[in-house]
Amino acid sequence: MFWSNAFGTPLVIALGPDAIETVLTNRDRAFANKEGWDYFIGPFFERGVMLMDFEEHRQHRLILQQAFKRDRLLAYLEKVNATIARSIAAWRPGPGFELYEAAKQLTLDIATEVFMGEQIGAQADRINEAFIDVVVGGQAVVRADVPGGKWHRGLQSRRMLEDYFRAQIPKKRAGTGDDLFSVLCHAVSEDGERFADEDIVNHMIFTMMAAHDTSTITLAMMGYYLARHPGGRSGCGPSPAASARRRSATTTSSACPTWTSRSRRRCASTPRSGCSPARR
Ligand code: HEM
Repeated sequence: MFWSNAFGTPLVIALGPDAIETVLTNRDRAFANKEGWDYFIGPFFERGVMLMDFEEHRQHRLILQQAFKRDRLLAYLEKVNATIARSIAAWRPGPGFELYEAAKQLTLDIATEVFMGEQIGAQADRINEAFIDVVVGGQAVVRADVPGGKWHRGLQSRRMLEDYFRAQIPKKRAGTGDDLFSVLCHAVSEDGERFADEDIVNHMIFTMMAAHDTSTITLAMMGYYLARHPGGRSGCGPSPAASARRRSATTTSSACPTWTSRSRRRCASTPRSGCSPARR
């Protein structure tokens, strides 16, 4: 454990499995999510489930969990895989290829299609930008609503996202879609509880952030470490059976998305050494 100061507030850092287990299991209810997260991201992700505590958190989780049952996950997975195959086919690897930016676009595309349904069309870019603004808002050094600042832009984008989701709710409630947004509009917990409109707006904004920003960073870090430690790639390839299935199901390409020209040559000669599965 150590104490620090950042973003104008004292911080206590708990490192290592034991400390993290103590905090996350929170057996004696000594730690609260809302008070911690509110300071950093509260204005942008208010009433997201990670910013709730105890009984209220449990109640919301019970409804949210309906959206993450096995059959739901399988339906999402089908869309996720289709989006990944389509997006990665457009990647053009080579010197200067920015994996972080490409992963960000990819995860935003997945999030908008899988979570919100496919009908957002022309608004997709504006919504993607708004999600970037709200994430960046929480990282602002000037943590005040000053026009032109990141905090201000984040707040404006939060309002834009709220308006967008709120306006869609009647249509989603009336429909039978299998995107996350539709599912949250219909989810009922085993105790018969369901979300109010404002809950749906708040959970959609939070979950979009929770899903795409984390996955983007993870993908970018994986690419970085695989590039630094080529030996690790041998464990990353698909199994021969999966590889054969994918070969018949997806468009092939000779290029690996994340690698330097040297590693692409290596990839072409030893395909199982870690090329992106969707491309093989
Ligand atoms: C590699 C990817 C991911 C990482 C590293 C990650 C990490 C985390 C962590 C550390 C927390 C707990 C934060 C805390 O309580 O202090 C969390 C919470 C959460 N994550 Fe993820 N996450 C990832 C992907 C996702 C995805 C794909 C989704 C949704 C589809 C998601 C939805 C959530 C939700 C809803 C919470 C709040 C849970 C609650 O408070 O009950 N995450 N995530």
